[in-house]
Amino acid sequence: MRVLVVGSGGREHALAWKLAQTCEVFCVPGNPGIGEVAALRDGAIDDSGRLEAICREDKIDLVVFGPERPLIAGIADYLRAKGYAVYGPSAVCAQIEGSKSFAKKLMIERGIPTAKYRDFSEFNEARDYIESEYSAGREVVVKASGEALGKGVVVPTDKDEAIGAAKAMLIDRSLGDAGQLIVVEERLVGREVSLIALCNGLDYLVLPSSKDYKAAFDGGLGPNTGGMGAISPSPDVEEEEFQSWAEKFIRPILDFFAEAGNRYIGTLYAGLILTEEGPKALEFNARFGDPETQAIMPRINGDLGEILYLAAEGKPIPSLEVGPECSATIVLSARGYPGKYEKNIPLPEIRSSEKVIIFHAGTSVMGGQVVSAGGRVLNVTGLALEAKEAVELAYGAIDGRFDERWHYRKDIGR
Ligand code: AMP
Ligand code: GLY
Repeated sequence: MRVLVVGSGGREHALAWKLAQTCEVFCVPGNPGIGEVAALRDGAIDDSGRLEAICREDKIDLVVFGPERPLIAGIADYLRAKGYAVYGPSAVCAQIEGSKSFAKKLMIERGIPTAKYRDFSEFNEARDYIESEYSAGREVVVKASGEALGKGVVVPTDKDEAIGAAKAMLIDRSLGDAGQLIVVEERLVGREVSLIALCNGLDYLVLPSSKDYKAAFDGGLGPNTGGMGAISPSPDVEEEEFQSWAEKFIRPILDFFAEAGNRYIGTLYAGLILTEEGPKALEFNARFGDPETQAIMPRINGDLGEILYLAAEGKPIPSLEVGPECSATIVLSARGYPGKYEKNIPLPEIRSSEKVIIFHAGTSVMGGQVVSAGGRVLNVTGLALEAKEAVELAYGAIDGRFDERWHYRKDIGR
């Protein structure tokens, strides 16, 4: 089978790497690491005409989308209408990620456990609501409803910061159109776990549990990032019970879209928080998690291409065998990320081995040398029967090799 992966990050490298075990893989636009397992094609991820041309010229059997942006823009619909098998939701279904207001409404309507919320387009109303919540002794989280590339959530330290965030989004338009509508929700406390399901429109297959480390610095300190590391399985859940939660968090979403005549085909990601009242959904994404995918892919056995193809065709999805090993993924970033950071830093010599897999995120080639081209640059996944050993294998491949231009957390899985 000939598979086209759309995207250029560490998540797409992990998908391409796994797919390449059983398929011939192409990737647009990819990166130098992905180029080792797939044929790279030029093009923008949301250029529907270009993607169609690649599908035609390379006789693609299946298109797999990495990032959410082209999905929200309806590129999966476009390619499906041209007759291609596409693994990735329609624009209507991708609203589950593209509009937090839509997602919250759907969660409440279908009884999915989640934080209490209200949405606002008027600053004065948002401010009054935030005031009243804090007066009642409750804390809130402020979220831009639209797609803000991971920058749309503010977990404030106090009331003034919460009001400031609402003002920045609604009045100053700090996030553009993404923040013209905001969600103000109850602040929940607990450990987080990622529930990622492969969906064929009517049914799902849950991937093994994983945990993402979102903060920039050790101990969960510093600004939120796209993710500084991940481990799988999550140490905070019992795997069998975790898998059963999909009935509560994934099934109602699939049913909702199927009833409306818009089957959800693609990955559905529920970000869960383990509260004293049980798991609740913080968010849904219409795609694989990043960096969770880099931790999960090396753990699964079998033909991922076949599974995604069957899902794309709305056919029953066979079960997936999960290997006995645990994994830990460390993200290497340019120092300063998620703020300002240097680019074009040469990559140090670091090699994959059977139990240490290197995935490229933001990299490119300059003058014959692989250099950094983004904030998150490399992902290093260690695999071992014991979780602790997986962590130490990953750090063993990194420690001492990256100078002061780089940053990585030292506490992933520790
Ligand atoms: P989201 O993109 O909605 O998942 O939010 C990003 C991060 O913000 C989450 O992973 C949580 O760490 C935090 N967060 C979001 N919503 C809440 C909430 N209601 N209570 C506490 N933390 C939250
Ligand atoms: N790792 C969180 C996300 O992919 O949204």
